[in-house]
Amino acid sequence: MTEDEQKQAAAEKAVEYIKDGMVVGLGTGSCAAKMVDLVGAMVAKGLKITGVPTSEATATQARNLGIPVVGLDEVNVIDLTIDGTDEVDPQGRLIKGGGGAHLREKIVASLSDRMIVIAEAKKKVSQLGAFKLPVEVVQFAAPALKPRLEALGSTPTLRLAKDGTSFTTDEGNYIYDCDFEKIDEPEDLALTLSTMPGVVEHGLFIGFADIVLIGTDAGVEVIEIADEPGG
Ligand code: A5P
Repeated sequence: MTEDEQKQAAAEKAVEYIKDGMVVGLGTGSCAAKMVDLVGAMVAKGLKITGVPTSEATATQARNLGIPVVGLDEVNVIDLTIDGTDEVDPQGRLIKGGGGAHLREKIVASLSDRMIVIAEAKKKVSQLGAFKLPVEVVQFAAPALKPRLEALGSTPTLRLAKDGTSFTTDEGNYIYDCDFEKIDEPEDLALTLSTMPGVVEHGLFIGFADIVLIGTDAGVEVIEIADEPGG
């Protein structure tokens, strides 16, 4: 199976969880885009759902497919969010944001009853950190934050757009891609980053994933993530 076929298989399994009447968080990225295409086909056949897109790109894709989309002003609860990932570890902890959408993705995931993560096999890792951790920062703070991110043990690189200018997110912020090589204590790092003034959001998603669907040559691996004790 190619990586593309693995993504497709994971997306096909994920949309089986969507039921009529649901409010569905629509993720961002190449794997999520396959899921959105499938949802579009289901809507064309009569499925009634409301989508909450996690980026302008996904909103455009969904609208073009005829999926009704709304913002957070129009929904109280999101039943299910389906999104891709850049890495997932055995505890279901994620690194996201390779596409720069992790701020809205995390907000939507945080409002969702359930999050299903879909990915091709190579995204499953034993330890997070080989993928550079995206950290979204306000533009004003960017110069001051670089040494602070270095002090945490990373090599931060300001993300650039294709034209060589600074990449800006849907919310108008910059992103540092932080190379930690490996992240030994994701919870600690997440807390440290979250309390750093000027950091808007980081790509560590901890305690969000409920089900992880990995496309593999042997079929789709379904991983149910256990709740944290007391969580
Ligand atoms: C978007 O910012 C990301 O969080 C994506 O969901 C993630 O990078 C996975 O994208 P791909 O499926 O394109 O690898």
